[in-house]
Amino acid sequence: MLVLGIESSCDETGAAIVKDGRYVLANVVASQIEVHNRYGGVVPEVASRQQLATIIPVIETALDKAACTWEDIDAIAATYGPGLAGSLLVGLTVGKALALARNLPFLGVNHLEAHIYANWLRKGEVPDAQASVNTTHTTWDYEEGDPVFPLMCLVVSGTHSELVLVRGHGQYELLGRTRDDAAGEAFDKVARILGLGYPGGPAIQQAARRVEEELQQQKKPVVLARNAYRLPRAWLRGTYDFSFSGLKTAMLHLAEGATEHQHTSRSTNSKEPIPGNSGGKQVSQYTRMGVQAAQRGTPNVALLAASFQEAVVDVLAIKTRLAAQEYHVKQVVLAGGVAANLSLRARLEQELLPLRIRLSYPPIEFCTDNAAMIASAAFFHLCRGEYHGLDLDVQPGLSLPFSGK
Ligand code: KG4
Ligand code: ZN
Repeated sequence: MLVLGIESSCDETGAAIVKDGRYVLANVVASQIEVHNRYGGVVPEVASRQQLATIIPVIETALDKAACTWEDIDAIAATYGPGLAGSLLVGLTVGKALALARNLPFLGVNHLEAHIYANWLRKGEVPDAQASVNTTHTTWDYEEGDPVFPLMCLVVSGTHSELVLVRGHGQYELLGRTRDDAAGEAFDKVARILGLGYPGGPAIQQAARRVEEELQQQKKPVVLARNAYRLPRAWLRGTYDFSFSGLKTAMLHLAEGATEHQHTSRSTNSKEPIPGNSGGKQVSQYTRMGVQAAQRGTPNVALLAASFQEAVVDVLAIKTRLAAQEYHVKQVVLAGGVAANLSLRARLEQELLPLRIRLSYPPIEFCTDNAAMIASAAFFHLCRGEYHGLDLDVQPGLSLPFSGK
């Protein structure tokens, strides 16, 4: 079954053609990072306008790349939530319109569920696209190489941090969630505090990596960077919940202290003004700290980044390992943009190795927002005979369809 997936929940416009929920014939993503970078985050009105401008070319490119025509497509799927209402509306409306025009079945997809299904995608496993267009698999619920149920999924994106027990296709049990900021949101805010730009996750990872590699070259242990600053971890014992706001505040105070020190020494040595400081009321404190931190350009920023990343990874990895142990799962999977983080992957691997629990995560391009994961999740619903009518509306606050314990 060939599904055309459409993703437009935030600042990425994606279209993908996926066969049998696993084999990616084309995955096209138009990113708006350049546009939003200058604002330090996503501006919803700008995002939806960009979606509108790019969605049709992105779909056309996906069809071209997959070397297939509309006659080859069996169903159309588009994200209907959660996300920004304006952005969601663009992809969902285009998806429904195409389904109507081509007389194809339509399915609205939950973006969070799609992040989980990114673990079913296989990279570069369709050597001959045309051949795979013309063949059909008979099994749908399990193929060799698929994740094995029951599994523990750590969903960590820019808006969500959840530990989810997945007992089978579509069977989700919520074990814990963030009580304040999402992990990705913490990465983004702290990157702003440190002046590392947007999106924060890759920027913090890169800064941390730089200083860790320097230490390795000097034959020194990387923990010197990771423990350079003592940062709080919210363990919230007895729960699988997370909290990152205390850590973010600690980073703010650390950066502020360092900046004030810098400011004092600067003002005695130089008359150069610190941008962002004079108009402190107009810029957010994160941005002001960021400008100042970037100006310093000292190794402190990299050490702060490495210590912050370590604090986040510590909590995520240990809580996930504890949950995996308690629920005797066969496998742990990562989902969402933060699943792209190399330290998180390596650390969780270490935690699970003695337990002989397999860890898997999607290739980097399927961790962050993309449409291949939308088509994958759709496939498993369509195989269960689930469709949506064309009256389906966007649901910006949608959560995973959790069942009770
Ligand atoms: O899943 P996603 O693409 O969008 C949402 O559905 O929210 O996740 C985006 C988030 C951003 O907060 C971004 O900073 C974070 O994922 N992210 C990372 C990395 N790459 C993206 N966080 C840590 N390390 C990374 N390498
Ligand atoms: Zn996402």
